[in-house]
Amino acid sequence: MSCIEKILERRSVRKYKKDPVSKEVFNKILEAGRRAPSAANRQPWHFIVVTDEEVKRKLASGRFNSFIKDSAFTIVGVSMPYDSVSERWGVIDTTMAMQNMVLAAEVQGVGSCWIGDFREDEVKNLLGIPEKGKIVALISMGIPDEKPSEKRKKNLGEIVHFNHW
Ligand SMILES: Cc1cc2nc3c(=O)[nH]c(=O)nc-3n(C[C@H](O)[C@H](O)[C@H](O)COP(=O)(O)O)c2cc1C
Repeated sequence: MSCIEKILERRSVRKYKKDPVSKEVFNKILEAGRRAPSAANRQPWHFIVVTDEEVKRKLASGRFNSFIKDSAFTIVGVSMPYDSVSERWGVIDTTMAMQNMVLAAEVQGVGSCWIGDFREDEVKNLLGIPEKGKIVALISMGIPDEKPSEKRKKNLGEIVHFNHW
């Protein structure tokens, strides 16, 4: 399947098999994040990869994130600004790096789900993230054990404007 087909068929996956993700595949996912574009190449991102069962269980305490505990690993994306450029763009840079990881996972047969259901202060405490860091989101990943149907997406006609709103 071509890359574009994979992108179009991506779904948020919340059920995972117990199978591990190979080191090679895992490394390419992280590499895809590392190579993402960033404003003025500041690369203000940090990624905490949570594989520890106990820590995953603690992260999975929200209403909409219980599947974290079944993930092979969950990535916590942190923007760590260190100048005015990274202050202004850090969250966007980090978001793009994380979506690069989602797509790198997808094309290699690894399912994922973005997670906004977390308490920033609690996750910072749990993982020892410095005060200045901004947690952008979490992404759980693992070998899919479900094939979700497509969510309704807005038509292009509703969202695209040519030359003028
Ligand atoms: C920033 C962001 C936060 C999200 N937070 C959650 C979440 O906390 N729990 C969850 O189950 N899904 C979460 N999702 C997944 C969305 O529900 C999902 O992307 C959306 O319903 C569209 O489905 P699709 O990804 O299969 O196209 C989040 C997605 C994004 C982009």
